Amino acid sequence: MASLTIRRLDEAVKAELRLRAARSGRSVEDEVRVILREAAAGQAPVAPPAEPSPARAPAPAARTPGAPASIVLIIGGGIAAYKALDLIRRLRERGLHVRCVLTQAAQQFVTPLSAGALADERCYTDLFDPQSEFDAGHIRLAREADLIIVAPATADLMAKMANGLANDLASAILLATSRPVLLAPAMNPMMWANAATKRNMARLVADGAAVVGPNAGEMAETNEAGIGRMAEPLEIVAAAERLLRPHAPGALAGRRVLITAGPTHEPIDPVRYIANRSSGKQGYAIAAAAVAAGAEVTLVSGPVMLPDPPGARIVRVETARDMLAAVEAALPADIAVFTAAVADWRVAEAGAQKIKKTAQGSPALTLTENPDILATIAQRRDNRPPLVIGFAAETEKVIGHAQAKLARKGCDWIIANDVSPASGVMGGDRNTIHVITRDGVESWPPMAKDEVARALMARIAGTLAVNPAAPAAKERA
Ligand SMILES: Cc1cc2nc3c(=O)[nH]c(=O)nc-3n(C[C@H](O)[C@H](O)[C@H](O)COP(=O)(O)O)c2cc1C
Repeated sequence: MASLTIRRLDEAVKAELRLRAARSGRSVEDEVRVILREAAAGQAPVAPPAEPSPARAPAPAARTPGAPASIVLIIGGGIAAYKALDLIRRLRERGLHVRCVLTQAAQQFVTPLSAGALADERCYTDLFDPQSEFDAGHIRLAREADLIIVAPATADLMAKMANGLANDLASAILLATSRPVLLAPAMNPMMWANAATKRNMARLVADGAAVVGPNAGEMAETNEAGIGRMAEPLEIVAAAERLLRPHAPGALAGRRVLITAGPTHEPIDPVRYIANRSSGKQGYAIAAAAVAAGAEVTLVSGPVMLPDPPGARIVRVETARDMLAAVEAALPADIAVFTAAVADWRVAEAGAQKIKKTAQGSPALTLTENPDILATIAQRRDNRPPLVIGFAAETEKVIGHAQAKLARKGCDWIIANDVSPASGVMGGDRNTIHVITRDGVESWPPMAKDEVARALMARIAGTLAVNPAAPAAKERA
């Protein structure tokens, strides 16, 4: 089969090809393939429409149908760059086509030669490379990718990206792309915790970037530990696969997810009750995200003022005891996410009739402890969901209290959030969470509650992909 070198075509043809490619969102090479295919089929080539493509749509793949998905892997200048070499292998094992871009700093840690050899492709390092820039190669790289992965995503690269800088090849590609971008941040915990990094992360998430990690653990620096380790290559691959196949059966297809949400109401008498300020928004968002991820969802909900998430089975309850009974009845499940703000206490003897004012003064209410739904389910011998996740609403020492709760309750993860009045979390639309597992703490940037829900489902699916759990509950049932 003859091959075609676009560089040798005359300027007018090249200009026309670039214009067509820009309009159709294809690479110049793919545009030529389409023209040739149409010519071979006897069709008059159809010029693509002239509307500009949207800025960052979750763009349809630009590749020729049947061709392997194409990843541009941007390797930033951090110690974790060595793990990016393994990531190239893992992506290629899955039949993905990988093109590597190394920042200048990345080349202090790994060489273009190693990355290129593993990718079986030339590696790109220079914005002003005459070899690849004869036809604006950075735009081509940005456009030809089905997905751009930045791993490690350095604090510096994320700062540039958040601010729209484009003074090297990596940042120019990131600014020029309309394709999904997956960031795998990696940095020293102090850099990760810095307010500037948090701001940049929040902006990138709001701009549509997907994020995997960072994880907690030992740092390359001696005696340093904390949040900042890059996600493992297989976690990054799982996140990439989900982004590449957003319409494939969801990442949680075939899984049963059990969620509790909202407050409980504990009666004082037939007309009065003890309650709390939980709105149920986070739990409902998690139920919607789990449905969207293909799971079979049961939502056990306390009294809230929210519309039902379509596709979930809803069980409405009022008290903590009702909630526990509904949860137990909904087992088996693969994943249980307990977001409900269950009242710790109830009135020991709720009045059968409305308590009346009397001359003897105010009635004394004796409280008694409610069942602990999280601990009860996490410590079950039979039918314990393989992944039990509790939420910890704290108003002080958020991480410390949540770590203690993880140990005390016997669950697998605790999602800690600060619900002090100043945080605006209770009843609000945004949340800042810390995912606490036995391996450490991941502090996520502030996000809308539905973004938290989607990211949490992706985190769960990633964990299931890395540690394929027991057979799905359906098969066990
Ligand atoms: C030994 C060493 C290790 C580094 N590790 C990281 C890191 O893990 N994460 C990070 O954000 N920056 C790290 N840096 C700083 C970056 O290399 C520096 O910010 C650089 O400008 C990043 O360039 P880039 O974002 O273009 O790749 C490290 C620097 C040195 C000298």
